[in-house]
Amino acid sequence: MDPNVQNYLYRNPQFYELAYPETNDETPMMCRRMFSRYLPKPPRSILDLGCGTARDLDSLSKECPDCWGVDYLAEVIGFARKQRPHLHLQSGDARHVRLDRTFDVIMSMGSAFMYALTDTDVARTLETFVAHSHPGTLLILDINNAASYLGGEHFKPTSELRVDSPQFTAEAHSIYSFNRRQQTLARRRVWTIAGQGKVEDFCEYRMFFPAELEHLLSERGFRVAGMFDNMRLQETDLCGPRLYVPAIFHP
Ligand SMILES: C[S@@+](CC[C@H](N)C(=O)[O-])C[C@H]1O[C@@H](n2cnc3c(N)ncnc32)[C@H](O)[C@@H]1O
Repeated sequence: MDPNVQNYLYRNPQFYELAYPETNDETPMMCRRMFSRYLPKPPRSILDLGCGTARDLDSLSKECPDCWGVDYLAEVIGFARKQRPHLHLQSGDARHVRLDRTFDVIMSMGSAFMYALTDTDVARTLETFVAHSHPGTLLILDINNAASYLGGEHFKPTSELRVDSPQFTAEAHSIYSFNRRQQTLARRRVWTIAGQGKVEDFCEYRMFFPAELEHLLSERGFRVAGMFDNMRLQETDLCGPRLYVPAIFHP
């Protein structure tokens, strides 16, 4: 595993959805909003790069049977396959994977694209998007919004997370720091887990600014169709902490 991903929840994927519940199917609902806004007809195929437990893909597969997911971590994919055997799931690296086909939608949600830390990683990941796109393919990215930190008032150097379920009871304390030269954000997190004591994990994320991302995408033929800091896809001044980006492939 890359040293930048030492996440307790990735090693224990059965707890991922308990720690990050999505009770109202928010992410797939936002994807559906993008499908109706940016595609001429509902997608017939979807590829999720960095799919994790494939929760989003599972929901979208109700309307689109040809759903594929790729994740770096074999243990996450092993868990997802058992839970969701109707999906095409495989382990692979978004920087290199080639499935030798194209999709109507490519998505990379929950910050998965931010694991491309270096310019080389970013370029390779973008090439993977290109390799699986045809004219009109809708690419959807869900990442941190680096622009929300401009002005400084939105950055919180620590955060707390509490999970209280019969299967998993834990508290996590996170400390965030920037490497401004590399344009990365690091998170050191200490879990206090019932029955296990303390466990530490560490993640590092590449930060992208809206105009920078638009440039990177347009260089590869993806025309950015909007940039939103909310899942309702309303126009704002992008001060919110997330960035949701639909882009259409027009090579
Ligand atoms: C925060 S999780 C998000 C999972 C899922 N997209 C979601 O929103 O629920 C990020 C995922 O990206 C995966 N990932 C990180 N780097 C990757 C790479 N180079 N190729 C494929 N998957 C990657 C991690 O293994 C992890 O499962």
